[in-house]
This record gives sequence, C-alpha cells and structure tokens, in this order.
Amino acid sequence: MCGIVAAVAQRNVVPILLEGLKRLEYRGYDSAGLAVSTDDKEIKSVRKAGKVNHLTEQVKEDNLIGTTGIAHTRWATHGQPTAENAHPHCSGGTIMVVHNGIIENHEVLRQKLINAGYTFSSQTDTEVIAHLIAYYQKENHPLSEVVKQAVTCLEGAYSIAVMDRLSPGKIIAARSGSPLVLGVGIEEYFIASDPLALLPVTHQFQFLEEGDLVEITTSQATIYDQQGKQVQRPVATDHFEFDSAEKGNFKHYMLKEIHEQPEAINNTLEGRITENRILPQSFGCDAEKLLKEIDTVQIVACGTSYHSAMIARYWFETFGIACQVEIASEFRYRNIVVPKRCLFVTLSQSGETADTLSALRLAKKLGYASTLTICNVHGSSLVRESAMVCMTRAGAEIGVASTKAFTTQLTALLMLATVTGRLNGTVDAKQESTIAQALHKLPGLVKSALTLKNSIQHLAADFSHKQHALFLGRGTMYPLALEGALKLKEISYIHAEAYAAGELKHGPLALIDVDMPVIVIAPKNALLEKLKSNIEEVSARGGQLYVFADRSANLTETNCMKVIHMDTVPDIITPMICSVPLQLLAYEVAVIKGTDIDQPRNLAKSVTVE
Ligand code: G6P
Repeated sequence: MCGIVAAVAQRNVVPILLEGLKRLEYRGYDSAGLAVSTDDKEIKSVRKAGKVNHLTEQVKEDNLIGTTGIAHTRWATHGQPTAENAHPHCSGGTIMVVHNGIIENHEVLRQKLINAGYTFSSQTDTEVIAHLIAYYQKENHPLSEVVKQAVTCLEGAYSIAVMDRLSPGKIIAARSGSPLVLGVGIEEYFIASDPLALLPVTHQFQFLEEGDLVEITTSQATIYDQQGKQVQRPVATDHFEFDSAEKGNFKHYMLKEIHEQPEAINNTLEGRITENRILPQSFGCDAEKLLKEIDTVQIVACGTSYHSAMIARYWFETFGIACQVEIASEFRYRNIVVPKRCLFVTLSQSGETADTLSALRLAKKLGYASTLTICNVHGSSLVRESAMVCMTRAGAEIGVASTKAFTTQLTALLMLATVTGRLNGTVDAKQESTIAQALHKLPGLVKSALTLKNSIQHLAADFSHKQHALFLGRGTMYPLALEGALKLKEISYIHAEAYAAGELKHGPLALIDVDMPVIVIAPKNALLEKLKSNIEEVSARGGQLYVFADRSANLTETNCMKVIHMDTVPDIITPMICSVPLQLLAYEVAVIKGTDIDQPRNLAKSVTVE
C-alpha cells in the first residue's frame, strides 16, 4: 500500500526521502515520486513508474537537492501505475501533495473543481486534494488552515503531506483512516507512514491520532486535533532500537524472517509464562478481570492472520470456549447478532488493515463485552483502539508474505485460549502446565524444523513447472493447508488451493492427475488414520504426493509419494512447527521461478484501503 515520507531540515533531505521510500517498499507499490524545495521558493519534482531505484537514478540525473521535501510510493487504485498518476500531485505549480488512502467523493469534487477552472492531469483521486487546497488558498492565510479547510471536504480515508512553494520550509500533514507518524529530530522533523522509514534519522516518534493535523518546520512541530485544538501526543522512544530493515546475510527478507522465528517466538513468550502457568497480564493489566467475564470469542482478521484465527478456533473449542472466526471484510457488512459475554478479538501483523480496523470500530458500537488485539506494530490503530493488547514482538516483518508474524500470532493465541479456559474453569492446572511446557519447547522445535531447508530445496524443482497445487490437512492442519497454499500462490504465482482432506471426495478428487502435486500435512494425531485413507485416494488416481509426516507415522516413500519426515512434537503446537516447511517450500519454489519474493506482484504488505 502507498507510503509517505516527508522531511524539513537544514540539510539536503533527498537522501533521507529516498532511503525512507526504500524502507517502505515492503508495503507494496508500483510507482514512486518526490518533490523538494529550497529557501529560494523553487519546487522541483520527479515521478517514475516502477521501482524506487528508477526514481533514485532520475533524481541523481536531475541533481535534485532541497531542504524540504515530500515523497511517496503509490499502489494504484484510481488510474494506471504511470508516471502521470504517481505522486506528488501538483496544483498551479505551487501546491504539492502526496496521499495514502482513497477519497470516496473524488468524482463530485473533481467536477466542482473543473467548473471552477482547474485542469486535471491525472486519473487519481489525489489530484483533487491538491486543487482543493489551491482553491481555498487566500493571501496571508496560513497553509495549515487552508489544508484543514480542504480536508473537511474529503470523504474516505487519507493521510497526506502537503508543501507549498510560497511557504518554504514548511510541511503540513494530516491523517484520517490511514496511519502517519511524526519523527522528531534535532532542528529537523519528519513524517512517515511507518517509523521504519525514519530509523536512520530518528528513534523518537509521535503517532498521530485520527483527525490530527501537524505542521512541521525546522524549529517546531505543532499538532492539532480534529477540533483544531493544539495537542501533544506521547513521544515513543523504545521498541525502535532494533532496525530489522536490514537483510543481513540472507538473500531475501522472507528467508531472514523465516529464520528469525525461534527468536521471535521466544520474544512473544518472554515474561509471559512461568514453568507451569500463562500469565493473564500478557493481555493487559485488566485482562484477568475482563477475560473472566466472557463466555464466547469472536475473532476477525484478514489474509494470513485469518488463518491463525481459524487454527485458534480449534484451541478455544478444545478448552471449552465457543469461538467464531470471520474474515473482516465479511464481518463488517453482515447483520451481526452479538452473543452475550462475547470477547471481540482482532489479529493483525500491521494493526492498520482497513477492514479489520473497521470491524473493530463496528464491534465497539455493537456492544461486545470487550475487545482485544494481537498485533505486531506498536502504536498502530488496532493497538490504540482495543481494550486489551498482546504485542507479538516479532520485529519488523518486511516480506509481503507473512511468516514470523503468523507463528508468533499463533503462539499468543494459544496463550490466550489457555488463559481464557483457566479463568473460566474449563482448563485445569495440569492441562495449563502441559501447554506451558510445550510452549517452552516451541522455539527449539521451530529451530530444528528449519533444518528441513535442504530436503525442501530438492523437492522445490518438482513444483516450478506446475500450474496448480493442492494442499490437504485435517483438524488444525486444514487451516494450515490454507496458509501453505496462500504462501505458494503469493510468491510463486502457482495456483494453489487447500481442502479439508475429508472434502476430497466432494470435488477436488476430479482434479487429481500427474500434473497436480498434492501436499499433505500429516502429524501424528487422532486424525492420522483418516488422513492416510485420503492419501490412498490420491495415490489410487495417479496423483503425486508430498507428505510432511511425523517420523512415527509409518508412512514410507513410493513412486508417487515423497515423504518429508518431521520430529514428533506435542500435538498442541504442531501448527507452529508445520508452518515452517510450508513457508520454506513456497520460498524455494519462488527462488527457482525467479519471482520478486519480498514484493510479489499486485500485493501489498499493509492493506490500509478497503
Ligand atoms: C495483506 C498482506 C498479508 C496479510 C494481510 C492481513 O494481504 O499481504 O500478508 O496477511 O494483509 O494483514 P494484517 O497486517 O492485518 O495481518
């Protein structure tokens, strides 16, 4: 999704803006641009389709320098990903705007502005903002007031940064529905969609709240709330010490993040479990009291986070707590009947996914007993707006295909299900102790699952020329199969589907032939024998099987079945362990296919528009 970086300093800000854009690449984008000005009231801009590297080359060629600047990576929503549609958008050669989000009433505004004599040079919704600001601009009127007036006309979601050739050394930024953070330096201030963009220049951040507008110059940053009242927002300095935006020795962020999982899970657990117990305070100071007051759980999420929710439902139900899960974009448009004493849980890596955030806001209006988010980004909207919070502490996840955010979410969810069960009397001390001990072993077991990399590398060649793949699992391995299929399609562009193995006879069996690889996840559990029958059904029809099986599952290789042996692990934590080979399989296939692994085509890391 689009990314914004802006800076006001006494030094040349062009390298800061370009580095910031590189650091926001993970969000997904298809074009980029920047505008800078100097004190002599000159403003220059460059816009390019494609990667930030193209922009950087052009910026060098044009020898762009400036002390005030705004920059942007665009993910096309209105109009093709061309240089003309890339941001910044300009009005009258003076006003420059970058924008993240969608302006829903842009057609009405566009017509109004055309009638007032403005000419449009792009198909974007953003250009209306630039002309609207010019429209409201009057002599001697401060830019902040003009922007404030213009944004009151906007319907939809936005975060914007604005500069004006006639107000040198000043940037106005505003947010409503899309994230924005203010970075505080020494006699320099910055704006970005994510603190990660600014880590090379500052570790001090103020997260803007809904409706906030900020004016930055080299001497100060002034924040106004929705009512126009000057306000302070807390300065966050922790949590940003570790700059995980570096790839280190890994070829891709995704591979690095897969390998970071043992440490990430360790961080999720740290200080939250004793030898035999899971601490309710892991979910917030009031969690013990609030979790005692609930009978059922509703989880809402998107993408990979939704798959964690599906797995968690099995855990909650095993521990005697009724649980519903739903995709956020469906939940928010249904007529919901709210069960009594129901906890509303959101799961999100970014904490900014538009549908999940809207679902939370709706849930608060509908009167759920309480709200809780499991999230990876400090200060994100979901974190700020939920009553209870559990940070997954996975560190920045840059690869668009989520890996460590998924396994840390699962870890937090298993803790939540166990604690909720104990507080409601459905999980006893012995059960809790067994789970706590399994969780203690988890980082080490994930580490040993990573050693499967070499054998998976060999398998990957079998997939690289295939058009389709089918993933099968039962119980918690069914949502995990969905996640395995999602990983493969996201980064290798192979069409992959997942089925609950019991559904095989109800349709997908018709697809089985030598060209359809079938991946089966077969840990040793109560459903193994049933799964073996499904494996038979596939081999009897000439299907090529790849089975990730527990060593003690007694599955042996045949001509049409390759078996990848996995360690025996406690049943309750198999979803975290078995996700590792599926992530590695998708990764290795994508390496052979030579796709853009960290930034797959058409996808965005953080989907901040509907
Ligand atoms: C996008 C990302 C996925 C992610 C989903 C939900 O589609 O590409 O990797 O699972 O959004 O994001 P969230 O940040 O809410 O977990």
